[in-house]
Amino acid sequence: MKNGVSLLVAVALMALASSLASASDPSPLQDTCVAIDEPKNAVFVNGKFCKNPNLTVAEDFFYQGLNIPGNTTNRVGSNVTTVNVDAIPGLNTLGISLVRIDYAPYGQNPPHTHPRATEILTVLEGTLLVGFVTSNPQTSKPPL
Ligand SMILES: *[C@@H]1O[C@H](CO)[C@@H](O)[C@H](O)[C@H]1NC(C)=O
Ligand SMILES: *[C@@H]1O[C@H](CO)[C@@H](O)[C@H](O)[C@H]1NC(C)=O
Ligand SMILES: *[C@@H]1O[C@H](CO)[C@@H](O)[C@H](O)[C@H]1NC(C)=O
Repeated sequence: MKNGVSLLVAVALMALASSLASASDPSPLQDTCVAIDEPKNAVFVNGKFCKNPNLTVAEDFFYQGLNIPGNTTNRVGSNVTTVNVDAIPGLNTLGISLVRIDYAPYGQNPPHTHPRATEILTVLEGTLLVGFVTSNPQTSKPPL
């Protein structure tokens, strides 16, 4: 018990003495991890079940249809075509996906969040108004 306490004190002192800290996302455990729905034939688990890498084929990294506009006749006047791991199984664990959003005039994409993700928008036609809601709004300052 006494040893345990002195060990704890020693570790705490070392932690306080260190000014260095490093943190990062864990690296993927393998080059690819093609998602598979049926775990029976899967070999690894890291995100979704991974296909046996020996069985990976080019189609696991392919999607077509982003050229087809979504139907925007709905309440929000927009349609999101997602190309994520469900559309391209090879995206599993790679931390990337993309979408096509079609807007009817005055259509909108309701407020939403992307935790721990980056979003880049390219507007191909028309004008899109985009805003951020931050957790520390500085409403008293005029915008720069
Ligand atoms: C993939 O193929 C190699 C070479 O044939 C083999 O050694 C390995 O066990 C296979 N991996 C799996 C997960 O089946
Ligand atoms: C988006 O467009 C696709 C293709 O036209 C359609 O199948 C789907 O129902 C639409 N989604 C919404 C939410 O309107
Ligand atoms: C778009 O969706 C609306 C409502 O569901 C439907 O009436 C219309 O036929 C669809 N348009 C196309 C081109 O599919």
